[in-house]
Amino acid sequence: MIFDVIIRRANVVDGTGREPFVADVGVRGERIVAIGDLDMAQAAQVVQAQGRYLAPGFIDVHTHDDNCAIREPEMLPKITQGITTVIVGNCGISASPVKIVGEVPDPMNLLGESDAFFAQFDAFAAALEAATPAVNVAALIGHTTLRAGVMDRFDRAATGDEILAMRGALRQALRGGAIGMSTGLAYTNARLAPTAEVKALVEVVGEEGGIYTTHMRNERETLFEAMDEAFETARHGKVPLVISHLKCADVENWGKSEHAIDKLEAAAREQPCNCDCYPYSACSTTLDLWRVSDQFDILVTWSKPHPEQGRRLLSDIAAEWEVDLTEAARRLMPAGAIYHNMDETDVRRVLSHPLTMIGSDGLPSDPNPHPRLWGSFPRVIGHYCRDEGLFALPEAIRKMTSMSAARFGLTDRGVIREGAFADLTLFDFETVLDGASFVAPTTPAIGIDWVMVNGQPTWVDGDVRNRAGRLLRREAVIE
Ligand code: ZN
Ligand code: CU
Repeated sequence: MIFDVIIRRANVVDGTGREPFVADVGVRGERIVAIGDLDMAQAAQVVQAQGRYLAPGFIDVHTHDDNCAIREPEMLPKITQGITTVIVGNCGISASPVKIVGEVPDPMNLLGESDAFFAQFDAFAAALEAATPAVNVAALIGHTTLRAGVMDRFDRAATGDEILAMRGALRQALRGGAIGMSTGLAYTNARLAPTAEVKALVEVVGEEGGIYTTHMRNERETLFEAMDEAFETARHGKVPLVISHLKCADVENWGKSEHAIDKLEAAAREQPCNCDCYPYSACSTTLDLWRVSDQFDILVTWSKPHPEQGRRLLSDIAAEWEVDLTEAARRLMPAGAIYHNMDETDVRRVLSHPLTMIGSDGLPSDPNPHPRLWGSFPRVIGHYCRDEGLFALPEAIRKMTSMSAARFGLTDRGVIREGAFADLTLFDFETVLDGASFVAPTTPAIGIDWVMVNGQPTWVDGDVRNRAGRLLRREAVIE
């Protein structure tokens, strides 16, 4: 048999949670066609694994790469981590379907300026496919984006007519291949959307066979109530649920992860639900007054009126301006920030739970991004798995591959088996580690040696050699 590529003598960690085994992996066209002893086989190209590990390409289930995948199709922050598929459109914000006139509403401004948005999902899909990013992309439709498409202001519930219009736009996008819907109910521009508004939309997601992800209404004092709302909403629409970046934010809420995990487990016995998590105890998003606190460091990453204040602590800026933190924030907005507001014990508890998938939540438009953008996946393997022993390697890989593909309905991805797509990542388990830090946030990871996407060697010797990513259109999510 003749192959296009053979990866020889790899420690195959196949994504399912199974123990690694030594094998050759043969690829023809876009698929894995043989796994085993391929000594006698010939290939146009041979990669000697030499003790390194071969995993399914990583799936970043929580991203804001909608626009990055089109504008910077090499997707360096992702391909350098071994990521071969990203889910875009999380936290209620997607690049379509919406037409923006004037200032981009918070937090849609995390995706870029008004020219980052598309009136129809079809136009977004066409732009993405024309750009041919280096990694695959599957897209959620954001609730806040739907609101921006039909509402003149956000400080109220949508009317019946507006809900009808949003349902129509959502259904059209889902039929065009979007995989589900996300909400960002904690944000000022969505928090006055009542549960009933979200339910009316999630019904459509259920009818079309999609998934629902939510940045919940509250990650602080009413975290548990917010979880109940998410479970109930998903049950109402008969959709699988993913709770975005499950966390306990702010000092008063540290320790709540124990009960939050109990709740997630209990719900998962009744309905399909998971959560995602990034491996850091600091979060990052837009700057908003209700998020300001003197109990932890807040690092300003960007500011429209004061770009010169990027990479400075809010407390230093406030001291220099001789105002309090809230007033400083008010002057800086619209702005972005990193909030060091989580407890490491909570992060570890959520990260290590078997229902938790890895999602970076990286913000590619941020000039001083949180290091999760460039570092999340190698950090899970190098820091939390190898150095800290938080979980074994097969489990670390399962959290970033097969669990994610199954939950998001990405057929024939996230596993190394004959017939699956050849999305593959070869890494050195001894050295793999995140390079990005809060001081140097765009430093690439080390130890991710070779990455293949849809059968095309893509990240090779520190260069992007191909861009073979596709838009992965929705197929009904099977339970
Ligand atoms: Zn979020
Ligand atoms: Cu997010």
